[in-house]
Amino acid sequence: VVFNDSASASKSVAKAIAKCIQKKQYENKPCILGLATGSTPKGVYAELVRLHQEEDLSFKNVISFNLDEYYPMAPNSVNSYVYFMNELLFKHVDILPENTHIPDGTLSKENISDYCSNYEQKIEDLGGIDLQILGIGGNGHIGFNESGSLQNSKTRLVALDHTTRLAASKDFGGLDKTPRTAITLGVKKIMEAKSVILMAWGEGKSNIIKASVEGVVTNQVPASFLQEHRDATFVLDKSAASKL
Ligand code: GLP
Repeated sequence: VVFNDSASASKSVAKAIAKCIQKKQYENKPCILGLATGSTPKGVYAELVRLHQEEDLSFKNVISFNLDEYYPMAPNSVNSYVYFMNELLFKHVDILPENTHIPDGTLSKENISDYCSNYEQKIEDLGGIDLQILGIGGNGHIGFNESGSLQNSKTRLVALDHTTRLAASKDFGGLDKTPRTAITLGVKKIMEAKSVILMAWGEGKSNIIKASVEGVVTNQVPASFLQEHRDATFVLDKSAASKL
């Protein structure tokens, strides 16, 4: 789906999320949301906050699982995804703190693998993710599943690509201060989500969008796996769609 600009695209994604939440409210069930960070979903979160404040959208039945977190990372750091989610969404809406999940960047290394299995188990116990939203890295990564990630990959500690670190280095004040690893939800759990919405804005994403949508399905471009998902939508602005 191609929109004139990212503002109208973001509103439409927020509307799809609100619809999912309200449908589940009507059924008296929790809505399991897979949430993303990065600059791309910021407009969506702003619109969700507006829907909560001005149109009474409640998040009381929402249980959220974020895709990823840098490792190591202190939750109170301005660069943490915990900080990002609190500032942009959680503290402005009525989601219950115990219903929000973000991979823990403070674990000791030997505990990561158990922690990741647990993270996936929690999602499974709730019946899976209802709606997963995604951005896309310049190399086609989803979450922090970098090129080479397998379609059945699990939630795990990964090494970040040089290009990913370079893109993040402006936030960290230099490449040497940018984390080398992260914990990410695996591709498998993303593919198991009932619906997926991947968003991309701007000319800079147009090549990787073309590769993801029209190229071969390959682990070199993890977003291309979504071609095989039963309900995945790419929501783009005109510039990101310009090479299609
Ligand atoms: C990070 C995040 C991804 C995100 C990507 C793109 O790597 N872990 O989930 O999709 O950045 O970032 P941006 O939306 O800022 O282009």
